[in-house]
Amino acid sequence: MKILMVCLGNICRSPLAEGILQHKAKQHGLNWLVDSAGTANYHKDEPPHRLSQKVSKLNSIDISHLRGRQFMKEDMIEFDKIYVMDEENYAEVKRISRNNWNEQKVDLLLNELYPNENRSVPDPWYGAEEGYHKVFDMINKACDEIIEKYAGIQISQ
Ligand code: 4NP
Repeated sequence: MKILMVCLGNICRSPLAEGILQHKAKQHGLNWLVDSAGTANYHKDEPPHRLSQKVSKLNSIDISHLRGRQFMKEDMIEFDKIYVMDEENYAEVKRISRNNWNEQKVDLLLNELYPNENRSVPDPWYGAEEGYHKVFDMINKACDEIIEKYAGIQISQ
């Protein structure tokens, strides 16, 4: 499996999602490739936001080595599944992908937890640390669903 996590800046939400899913895949002995990207290029080559790094570290996941990059249309070919955090990310991924767009590969991450509800992972960028903890918990639960769905492994909460 090759899975790409996408948000706007690739410094708050999607690096968390990349780190969490890669960690779980490794824990379960799955040889998955997990990556992340932003629809904007504001934070190219930057490490994740310090609060995303802090919250990950508190949960024993190190994301300090990750660096920001922008989503590109070739990603639509390269990856098996692309998860976006909100509807704006979805529209931007569609726009950037142009002729490579493949609707079947793309979904909102929280649809794995709440099917067809099209809920968003809120952007914690403008808020306090508490928002990063909430976002971590949401992404963590959605990633358990992804592991169960694609690897057939039951995760007890
Ligand atoms: P992210 O959060 O999409 O979760 O990485 C943001 C980070 C930076 C900005 C917006 C959202 N920004 O406007 O710079």
